[in-house]
Amino acid sequence: MPMASLVTLALLAGNAFAQTQTLWGQCGGQGWSGATNCASGSCCSTRNPWYAQCTPGAGCGGGVGSTMTTTSVAAKATTSSVSTPAQTSTTSTASASASTSRVRFAGVNLAGFDFGCGTDGTCDTSGIYPPVRNFPPDYNHPDGAGQMRHFYNDDNMNIFRLPVGWQYLVNNNLGGTLDATNFGYYDQLVQDCLSTGAYCIVDIHNYARWNGAIIGQGGPTNDQFVSVWKQLAQKYASEPRIWFSIMNEPHDIPNISTWAATVQAVVTAIRKAGATSQFISLPGNNWQSAAALVSDGSAAALSKVKNPDGTTTNLIFDVHRYLDSDNSGTHTECVTNNIDDSFAPLATWLRQNKRQAIVTETGGGNTASCEQYLCQQIEFLNQNSDVFLGYVGWAAGSFDDTYELVETPIWNGNGWTDRALVKACLAR
Ligand SMILES: *[C@@H]1O[C@H](CO)[C@@H](O)[C@H](O)[C@H]1NC(C)=O
Repeated sequence: MPMASLVTLALLAGNAFAQTQTLWGQCGGQGWSGATNCASGSCCSTRNPWYAQCTPGAGCGGGVGSTMTTTSVAAKATTSSVSTPAQTSTTSTASASASTSRVRFAGVNLAGFDFGCGTDGTCDTSGIYPPVRNFPPDYNHPDGAGQMRHFYNDDNMNIFRLPVGWQYLVNNNLGGTLDATNFGYYDQLVQDCLSTGAYCIVDIHNYARWNGAIIGQGGPTNDQFVSVWKQLAQKYASEPRIWFSIMNEPHDIPNISTWAATVQAVVTAIRKAGATSQFISLPGNNWQSAAALVSDGSAAALSKVKNPDGTTTNLIFDVHRYLDSDNSGTHTECVTNNIDDSFAPLATWLRQNKRQAIVTETGGGNTASCEQYLCQQIEFLNQNSDVFLGYVGWAAGSFDDTYELVETPIWNGNGWTDRALVKACLAR
């Protein structure tokens, strides 16, 4: 009965001013006409012009005045840390950062050079559909350059992941040289990315395989895999904003220690090719699942991978996580924010082991459930920005309306319009 009475009261109150939004619920943004006050213990944080959300925070919840923008809280935290003694400032900065910090990197994938690649590591190179406008034969491909400029300029994104099939890079010649024509087209997308000012992730999208067989474990030799990375590292050695993503979504790897040795060989080759300081992604087994990184032994095995100087500087764990019922990223409805089962335990492990991770694939449909859960997940990453470097949505580029998880913006003749999920959660 008390529950029913409360519901009745809320209904009778019947206007936005009297309503209080629950933790994680929407509390503002362009076009929002619902509740703007947050429940006790939470603040209304502005994520971007289109979306504000009630997020946990001490001393800001409930009643009029609970609406605080991220910017104003951050400014306050900075002031107090400057004007208080060292001991106090450590405490206040730490508590402030829990609710106001932001990950360093935010962006999306620009898919297309990976089209035709299957999870068994086959890549039908005739299936690619690059987001490079002047790509032959039809010269009418999606405008990846324009998309990235829009995301960078209008949505404050600063990282783009550029998946490509291994077979395409070497024109199906395992262990061979980068194909001048094919790599030339891929490099156009890379240069389009670099010219925005963003970081650009070069991602070989082969599931630890070449044509069905696993690298270093029955398939290509480590040397054949090292060969392609050595050439790529030579090309981009002097570009600090290139991020080397060794491999997309290894899965069903028989021996994780052997896989870690393969990853080590690539890291050593990239560094020795002259890319001495750029970020390199370390991919674990189980499709890089953020939930499995520690439990399946990937974290322990990959922790042993080192730079030639013995450090782990800029060697970053690279994880993926979707929010649909089977975590496959194939459904338009989301059912979880992945915090309790994935990101909270992973944050603890990363902190204990003094390491960092980036989420290079996450996303969902352009639906209310995905807006709710993905925004919650991203808010958690922001709150734990000491161990999470950023997030990259899947995916823009060559995807169109027919794709469940489309994040490709729409060109209306003189500007770009974002998809609902990008507006709500990924833009900032
Ligand atoms: C994995 O490979 C290593 C050698 O790289 C070997 O010592 C170890 O026994 C293997 N583990 C399993 C479970 O086969």
